[in-house]
Amino acid sequence: MKAVSDLTEPQAADELAQLADALAAHDLAYRDAAPIISDAEYDVMRRRNDEIEARFPHLMRYNSPTQRVGATRAEQFSPVAHGTPMLSLENAFSQEDSADFDAKIRRFLMLGVAPVAYTAEPKIDGLSASLRYERGHLVQGATRGDGRVGEDVTANLSTLAEVPQRLSGSGWPDLIEVRGEVYLSKPAFSAMNAAAEAKGERPYANPRNAAAGSLRQIDPSITAQRQLRFFAYAWGQVSAPFADSQWQALARLSEWGFQVTSQSRRVQGVEGLLEAYRAFEALRPTLNFDIDGVVFKVDRLDWQDRLGFVSRSPRWGIARKFPAQQARTKLEAIDLQVGRTGAVTPVARLDPVTVGGVVVTNATLHNGDEIARKDIRIGDTVVVQRAGDVIPQVLEVVDPDRPGRSAPYVFPHICPCPLKTPLARETTATGAETVVRRCTGEFACPFQRIEHLKHFVSRRAFDIEGLGEKQLQMFFDDKTIQEPADIFKLAAFDAASFKKLKDREGFGSLSVQNLFAAIEARRHIGLDRFIFALGIRHIGETTAMTLARGYGTASAFMAAMLNVAAGDAEAMTELDDLDQIGKAVVDAAGAYFKEEHNQSIVQRLLAELDVQDAEAVVNDTAVAGKTIVFTGALERMTRDEAKAQAERLGAKVSGSVSKKTDLVVAGPGAGSKLKTAAYFGIRVLTEDEWITLIGG
Ligand code: IVH
Repeated sequence: MKAVSDLTEPQAADELAQLADALAAHDLAYRDAAPIISDAEYDVMRRRNDEIEARFPHLMRYNSPTQRVGATRAEQFSPVAHGTPMLSLENAFSQEDSADFDAKIRRFLMLGVAPVAYTAEPKIDGLSASLRYERGHLVQGATRGDGRVGEDVTANLSTLAEVPQRLSGSGWPDLIEVRGEVYLSKPAFSAMNAAAEAKGERPYANPRNAAAGSLRQIDPSITAQRQLRFFAYAWGQVSAPFADSQWQALARLSEWGFQVTSQSRRVQGVEGLLEAYRAFEALRPTLNFDIDGVVFKVDRLDWQDRLGFVSRSPRWGIARKFPAQQARTKLEAIDLQVGRTGAVTPVARLDPVTVGGVVVTNATLHNGDEIARKDIRIGDTVVVQRAGDVIPQVLEVVDPDRPGRSAPYVFPHICPCPLKTPLARETTATGAETVVRRCTGEFACPFQRIEHLKHFVSRRAFDIEGLGEKQLQMFFDDKTIQEPADIFKLAAFDAASFKKLKDREGFGSLSVQNLFAAIEARRHIGLDRFIFALGIRHIGETTAMTLARGYGTASAFMAAMLNVAAGDAEAMTELDDLDQIGKAVVDAAGAYFKEEHNQSIVQRLLAELDVQDAEAVVNDTAVAGKTIVFTGALERMTRDEAKAQAERLGAKVSGSVSKKTDLVVAGPGAGSKLKTAAYFGIRVLTEDEWITLIGG
């Protein structure tokens, strides 16, 4: 990868576009509690994005990940504006960081030699929530969302035994937003995963994802079954002060009926911070809930007030994180895995080892350069790390002194797939070598083909009910489905075969009927989904939508792509000129359609489908570039029509109101979204005013 300082402006723009798409996809996967990459890998991408933006601030994109905080909000819950924003803490990773934290506070407050008193609280690994109490009654419960506006999950939070409906004791302010962490105990988490696995569902990667997934259930009765718990540790808006110190505040929260962590303590100065950190490190395995660090807060609330905030974090608090969990084990073998785009990733096969309570048998080795840099050899004892996430990684070799034993690992020159394609390092447009080695077999490579097919049927692509990864693998192995078009021939194939699908294990007449019906229904598909489903590199959902809007019809799209593949300058410029599309997409589309087998696969697929045209976008309208939210009942058109029309006029339609919303169109029955709009001072139109605005 090129150093950020060496990037040209067009390269930076391209990379930012790719990073925005990729990070958005990872955010979604994370939100759905099924992350694809480890937190560490995510952080690397995110940091790269931030560094490029820092060097080229004018290239910052409208959909830049830096414009969002935390996970994206789902559409199904109403947005609620928090009384005061829910911020997050800066992280500290060493005692030095803790000492800096203390030093800054002392400087800021111009304190003398006396040590500052801090609370040290376990950093609970769950998700934060805000509970609004008016005159002691719970009136609203919300997730953090983007910090300013969260999701209204009152019904779900009300099912938690540890969330009081009414505050007990006395002395609570008339209005108080109590903040804390929703979490699952370790045993509840294990039980939940065991149940998921028994049902053939994917287990949750960690307690935090499991808690988030459980809380954000549409049906609160499901949340109620999940044994979610709640620790209170902070507050947002309050109508009156209720304590002088954090320590006293915790005591009051406890009097009013909340659980507070009994392990919290009060310490003095830098030494106190270190002692507390060590104490919590020792306590960690004995706790029945997961913690990922220790939170330090200046105890005196008047000092907290004076210290205030810098951007999104308070100056008065910090989270000292535990290092990721590690273990040692033997590296038995290195296998190569081929992904959808042909990228070949080395995977470590390990002697099974328990890391932080989870048995690890495989870990990523990232790429050949990493293996060489760390000089990792088969037979070595290695350190494996799992950082509260999914894909464990091999960090380093324990004792690299291996006299006359093993030989350095040589990255294979040939792909493990039956095509045995040569594996060369990929180069960038400028000729620089990258760390990626790719199998160029595309659809001819069975490893890539199955990954392509999985992508094709995935939720945001064709989303065929009854055709999940398991069924797909089965059809792939028995050769019934080898390419996307085969899916649409499945029913005809079955009708003509001797051995019927309904007689197969795992199927029955009804499920087969349903499957065929689901496949039939998908013959009609929007151009954007169709393009996304092809799984062309760098063409994520957003880019697919841009392409669909830009070309309008499947035939125009195909004609243009074939021209791009043929190197037609006009076609390439036309593609490059589309909003947010850069060289990476032009190259990827060209490379994809240059391959004849890709062309024929797409043609055969098109022969099976009725691809719906995308409506062309008109860009010189009053609402172009604006973000619109429709709420309440519309009387002159359906919600879908209104959305499509607005998009055709170049507007972006969103399901929830945020500070980035430009206009809210409200019909009768509009509720919380109007309140949120008022909170942000957003212009609200009636349906008629909207129609006038867009010119009838
Ligand atoms: S205080 C201004 N205390 O860690 C932020 N947070 O970024 C006040 N967390 O979002 C947060 N245990 O979800 C606080 N004892 C604790 C915590 C805690 C866990 C989470 C919380 C927050 C994140 C810090």
